[in-house]
Amino acid sequence: VDTVLDPDMIQIPADCGAEAAERGLSVMAKAMQASSILTIANQVRALKAAGADLADLTVGDFSSQQFPIPVELRQGIQDALQNGDTNYPPPAGMPELREAVREHVKRTQNLDYPLESFTIVSGGRPALYAAYRLVVDPGDLVVFPVPSWNNHNYGDVCQVRVQTVPCHEDTAFQPTAAMLRPHLSEARLFVLNTPQNPSGGVMPKAEVEAFGHLLVEENERRIQIGAKPLYLLYDQIYRSIVFGQHQHYSPVQLVPACAPYVIHSDGISKGYCATGLRCGWIFGPPIIARKTLALLTHVGAWAPKPVQVATAKWLNDLPAQEAWHKDLDARVMERLTVLSEGMAALRDEGYPVDFIEPQGAIYLSVRFNLVGRKTAEGKLLENNEDIRNYLTEAAGFALVPFAAFGADEADQEGWSRASVGAASVEQLHASMPRLREALASLS
Ligand SMILES: Cc1ncc(COP(=O)(O)O)c(C=O)c1O
Repeated sequence: VDTVLDPDMIQIPADCGAEAAERGLSVMAKAMQASSILTIANQVRALKAAGADLADLTVGDFSSQQFPIPVELRQGIQDALQNGDTNYPPPAGMPELREAVREHVKRTQNLDYPLESFTIVSGGRPALYAAYRLVVDPGDLVVFPVPSWNNHNYGDVCQVRVQTVPCHEDTAFQPTAAMLRPHLSEARLFVLNTPQNPSGGVMPKAEVEAFGHLLVEENERRIQIGAKPLYLLYDQIYRSIVFGQHQHYSPVQLVPACAPYVIHSDGISKGYCATGLRCGWIFGPPIIARKTLALLTHVGAWAPKPVQVATAKWLNDLPAQEAWHKDLDARVMERLTVLSEGMAALRDEGYPVDFIEPQGAIYLSVRFNLVGRKTAEGKLLENNEDIRNYLTEAAGFALVPFAAFGADEADQEGWSRASVGAASVEQLHASMPRLREALASLS
């Protein structure tokens, strides 16, 4: 249908409201930053559109060509749509999905929470956002390791004080309880994520257990002095993607007494390559699940009803689940292996590169220690951003520096995240000779 433009059409200019917003937006809105990861992703998209030969290792997502969602899940969504499951779901989530998640947690984590402990939300992010909003007030202290994903932004939104704890390659960029303990005495919340974005590090069982004990001890101390509790937000969205000897644990599995203080965030985004379907859950003390429901109902952050119906069926399909996880882990590992073997070969040839063996998630921590080197054109590489740009443009090897995950620029020289969710095995193989050539041409 042709639209006839009304000559009196009211034109709204692109800068409409900018001046008023400058004077009038909330303190919180002014504090929020655009994600630097998205800025990098935009640059890479433009290079690809211009036809560059490029291994895009920047996006923490799955491409649906490389990693489609499970066929059973897709079919379940189509069936649910066909059946007319298109209206509001109940605010806490579809009863069958809450029950399926509860059974799933029992089976996979040996934790038997009551049904009231589970609230279904539209992905991992609303669960994280709710956890922040429910336990901290503006000005409270939140502690998290760096590099880590998105905590700065939640900190800005909630107007809290943050204490970051830098982590390094010796612990696969995961914090230990000993590292965090000195910072927790005044904190209201600390945040852990394992398997971790951006490093791919999986927290060892002993450390998870140490965090459980720490939570119990600190909260016993606070009960004695009448202080508010310390909570742990435990982001386990990559829980099922672990390799070799590495295994995922919840502190509640290892130290059940910490259960009152642990809020788990999880969902289908990563374990089922379903980032666009928007289905996640928060679980922990029932009061936290109830308050999440109360908060997010006003936001409307429910998972779409057809996705909920299909996810319930999918989680209950145990043989399909088992086959899926085996296959997904193998396909992710295949890609991470191409990368890590390529990096090992370059290191053995004497190039200033390093990496951490794959542990979990879809990420490899890689290091290009190139500060002070000069390109063939005579440009000095002065910082992580210069290194990133050089590797993207000269080698078609696009990474995200850990500095984009809150790490101190000087502290994380050359360490970056390589994500394999959107890369084919062939693209990864093809990128290695380009990388070697780009490194060889530096002086
Ligand atoms: C560590 C971590 N937690 C949570 C999320 C959010 O996942 P969702 O897409 O389900 O909101 C992500 C997404 O990249 C993530 O990397």
